[in-house]
Amino acid sequence: MRIGHIQLANRLFAAPMAGVTDRPFRQLCKRLGAGYAVSEMVTSRKDLWTSLKTSRRADHEGETAPISVQIAGTDAAMMAEAAAYNVDRGAQIIDINMGCPAKKVCNKWAGSALMKDEPLAVEIVEAVVAACAPHGVPVTLKMRTGWCASEKNAVRLARAAESAGIAMVAVHGRTREQGYGGMAEYDTVAAVKQAVRIPVVANGDIDTPQKAREVLAATGADAIMIGRPWIFREIAHFLETGEQAPPPSVADVKTWLVDHLGDHYRLHGEYAGVRSARKHIGWTLRGLPGGEEFRARMNAIETCEAQIEAVADWFDALADRSPLMPAAPRAADPAIH
Ligand SMILES: Cc1cc2nc3c(=O)[nH]c(=O)nc-3n(C[C@H](O)[C@H](O)[C@H](O)COP(=O)(O)O)c2cc1C
Repeated sequence: MRIGHIQLANRLFAAPMAGVTDRPFRQLCKRLGAGYAVSEMVTSRKDLWTSLKTSRRADHEGETAPISVQIAGTDAAMMAEAAAYNVDRGAQIIDINMGCPAKKVCNKWAGSALMKDEPLAVEIVEAVVAACAPHGVPVTLKMRTGWCASEKNAVRLARAAESAGIAMVAVHGRTREQGYGGMAEYDTVAAVKQAVRIPVVANGDIDTPQKAREVLAATGADAIMIGRPWIFREIAHFLETGEQAPPPSVADVKTWLVDHLGDHYRLHGEYAGVRSARKHIGWTLRGLPGGEEFRARMNAIETCEAQIEAVADWFDALADRSPLMPAAPRAADPAIH
């Protein structure tokens, strides 16, 4: 699997998720088996680039290559400038967001709203490709199947984007109108794959190893994009061997989480880091015996040191009861809608 000239480790992609897929989280996904992880979207608004939020999003220190940054906006020249800005800060791939349904983004005519204005979408693609080409940086596109059920224009837009120089397209199998509701469909993804020569990535509701194999087969997609990081390990194993992976050891999960937390505090600092880490800890623990009680207790902890110690102790106590992770409903991942 390649994006332009860049060879990827495998065909399992972590989906970009605002407020979730920061650099430490992307590293965790890669550690668990993702071959590729896209950043949270970065605005094309220059006045926000120096804000703490955006500058953290553009910090790639120590990130495993390839570094891919998603940009969002509505103005071709601003998007080209945002692409160049992020390439200067280490981006090796630029991804254009035409998939986000959030009102905050769509009201400004960005995200999936761009699918409604194909000439503007193509103008943005051309401008971003022109800004990235001199640096040898491929540009990719993430879109939905269309604006609404009666306007599924993913195939037309993918063809136009390919002609304009896009190196890969990821299709979330929902329309803008669906938001995150209903079920993702894959027929449109399959139609896009038939229509273009560039790699196509299927996304939406891939929540088990079996589903991963089914979606790859049904769409002919070159890769799958997943918003549930804890299943990368299981999916990678299943696609390789055809067999269910054994559950990880409690000690391994503890190491993954403790390392993730350390990385998270280094990026976000103590005050914001301890607070935003709570959701990551909660996703990991939910559904596990005693997880809910621990979550409630943990919300009162205010320092990095105490938080990491409490997590480590909790996992040590769990390991005393069972060396392997007990089965937990994976309603624990951020993308369970
Ligand atoms: C909390 C959250 C934030 C998201 N943020 C973005 C984003 O910044 N850019 C984007 O293209 N998609 C974003 N998405 C959409 C996901 O990338 C993905 O397309 C969607 O969750 C469907 O895949 P899944 O069923 O595997 O979760 C977000 C989704 C969630 C749940």
